[in-house]
Amino acid sequence: MKRIHELMGAMTLAEKLGQLTMTAAGYTVTGPVIAGDSTESIRDGTIGNLLNLVGPGPVHEMQRLAVEESRLGIPLLIGLDIIHGHRSLFPIPLGEAAVFDPQVWALTAREAAREAAADGLAMSFAPMLDVSRDPRWGRTAEGPGEDPWLGTLIARAKVQGFQGEDLSAADALAAVAKHFCAYGPVEGGREYAAVDISERTLREVHLPGFAAAVAAGVVAVMPSFTDLAGTPMTAHVDLLRHYLRGQLGFDGVIVSDYNAIAELLRHGVAADLPEAAALALAAGVDIDMMSDAYRRGLPVALERGLVTIAQIDESVLRVLTLKQRLGLFDDPYRRGATAERPEALAQRRQLARSVAARAVVLLKNDGDTLPLRPAQRRVGLVGPLADAPGEMRGPWWAAGVAEGHVGVLQGLREVLDGTEIVFAPGVEIEGDDRSGIAAAVELCGRIDVLVLCLGEGATMSGEAASRADPGLPGQQRALVEATVAAARSRGVPVIAIVFSGRPLLVSWLAERVDALLAAWFLGCEAGRALADILGGRVSPSGRTPISWPRVVGQIPVYYAQRPTGRPADAKDKFTSKYLDVANDPLYPFGHGLGYGRFTLANLRVSPERVGEHETIEIAVDVANEGAHAAEETVFLFTHDKVASVTRPLLELKGFGKITLSPGQAGTVRIRLPASELRFLGPDLTPVFEPGEVEILVGPRADRSQLLLGRVVLST
Ligand code: NOJ
Repeated sequence: MKRIHELMGAMTLAEKLGQLTMTAAGYTVTGPVIAGDSTESIRDGTIGNLLNLVGPGPVHEMQRLAVEESRLGIPLLIGLDIIHGHRSLFPIPLGEAAVFDPQVWALTAREAAREAAADGLAMSFAPMLDVSRDPRWGRTAEGPGEDPWLGTLIARAKVQGFQGEDLSAADALAAVAKHFCAYGPVEGGREYAAVDISERTLREVHLPGFAAAVAAGVVAVMPSFTDLAGTPMTAHVDLLRHYLRGQLGFDGVIVSDYNAIAELLRHGVAADLPEAAALALAAGVDIDMMSDAYRRGLPVALERGLVTIAQIDESVLRVLTLKQRLGLFDDPYRRGATAERPEALAQRRQLARSVAARAVVLLKNDGDTLPLRPAQRRVGLVGPLADAPGEMRGPWWAAGVAEGHVGVLQGLREVLDGTEIVFAPGVEIEGDDRSGIAAAVELCGRIDVLVLCLGEGATMSGEAASRADPGLPGQQRALVEATVAAARSRGVPVIAIVFSGRPLLVSWLAERVDALLAAWFLGCEAGRALADILGGRVSPSGRTPISWPRVVGQIPVYYAQRPTGRPADAKDKFTSKYLDVANDPLYPFGHGLGYGRFTLANLRVSPERVGEHETIEIAVDVANEGAHAAEETVFLFTHDKVASVTRPLLELKGFGKITLSPGQAGTVRIRLPASELRFLGPDLTPVFEPGEVEILVGPRADRSQLLLGRVVLST
């Protein structure tokens, strides 16, 4: 601390503002490049942080300029979007959420941190914690899905994984919880659009993930680009200063999003850059990413009396403290000093393969079409995503190169011994060209099983990738119709694998195929992981972390709906429903089949009555009556039937897993601290209300398939 205070005493205003500035080094760019060439500014101490620079060589060279050639020798903080792996990519976050395993979430973040730190980096702009109930929004791909409780588990695991036990270690990264907050409910699912939600929804759905990240010790937070009911998050004093820093006690660094401070002008809350800079600083934003508003605007804002030097010092102190915690003052070259062992890379690929296989969600499997049978010796592989290794990276790929990725064609050829894979792309992902369909139809005349690889392109989800009608793009439906007809005419079963960064609207497809798999974007080992699933080496165990709508008009469709005074009743017109489509989604939250066939019975809840500080023990017997060993995930939902405010019809509060061989039975036990049954009362403060709570246990968020128990809460 002494060193930091001495430094602060020696710093000029320009040097202080340098510490509050982060500029791109040009590796990847997600917005306008404004700050230009940084080299000279690093030397003169007016740029203190960089993003998008990769590799020990370039990183250490920039670090050398800062440490050895700038007046005060303050090391740089260098960050990158390490969203789901650095060079070795794991499944996209939405896909990884489907694994429902905190250890896996932490482990992939740890491995990503190791790889990125070996490349010289010290900060990851992740985890992304924005709950999304709108698949039109492209960034659904980057987040935890629709459920806030699931989001809290992911937040905790990712922060622990990225930051490790010791933030100053050579393999630890500063995590950045983003985008704070409520970015998911952008109007109409349209990227960067306005957000206007109730205070209750904000607190119940969109803040818990961030609270969990702070409790886990996250050292940085990034406000979202969006506004909330008229106040842009980059200038949100109440949420950033009072809630995040005040109520949650967050003492780390707030780093703006890319150019977000300058965008306060476009939002219409600042007339010029000095005003924008003053608003962001007042809200507690410490680092200005890419808008150069602090360097250019704060000196004028000081003259105008819009900010004080004390406010600037407060932010500089936080930035320098983070650099110190990262060990950058002690050894700025620590990250990237030693190359990783080749075995580490090989092990990471193994991990990527197993996590990718676990992220696959088997949405439909009529007549046990999957796994493939040994007699099915000729597999027809058709579709624009069958031989598309680069697409497997998904919308964020950090330093992952396309060449290092295994697509489905390669994966099946390598893994499925004794099987011949015949391939025709048919059509491109997008575009109008149907000329390849004939060859795909012809191929259907000489195969035993048809595997269609369909979906979005990698960059059709992610940032700036909202889709008003997220179905299969281009001519893919024409390809499906032609090839399915050809296959059916010969009695050939049809399997479809859908790649996407969001639930797609695939009701029509689901009706036409025998088996349907959601493969998200699975990362570097996608093809081998899918071969493991198709070939039966691995039973699918992924569970969708987000509902799959039947039609766009159902959006937002999510499991934790609140009750209505007129619940849907087919016999009563004046009840809450559509005239033209069912209320429920095509596939609910938690849905996912495997190769086992599980039955659940004998739900036990004890004790029958609990106080706020006791724990409820829940047990259920599970039996595998299928022909394959498989893993079952059992979800625990609750419903508070009578409360002072309406409670969601189902709320996820836990889950358990069990792996059983054919014919084997076991018990899943889940512990639920009764305090988890608190909720925000009418005045939005937590209450524990006496009364009966339903305990619902089963395979997916569909009440008709859940076993029902009860517990009585007493004060
Ligand atoms: C803009 C994105 O919103 C954010 O998530 C990302 O971290 C920055 N660009 C930096 O790439």
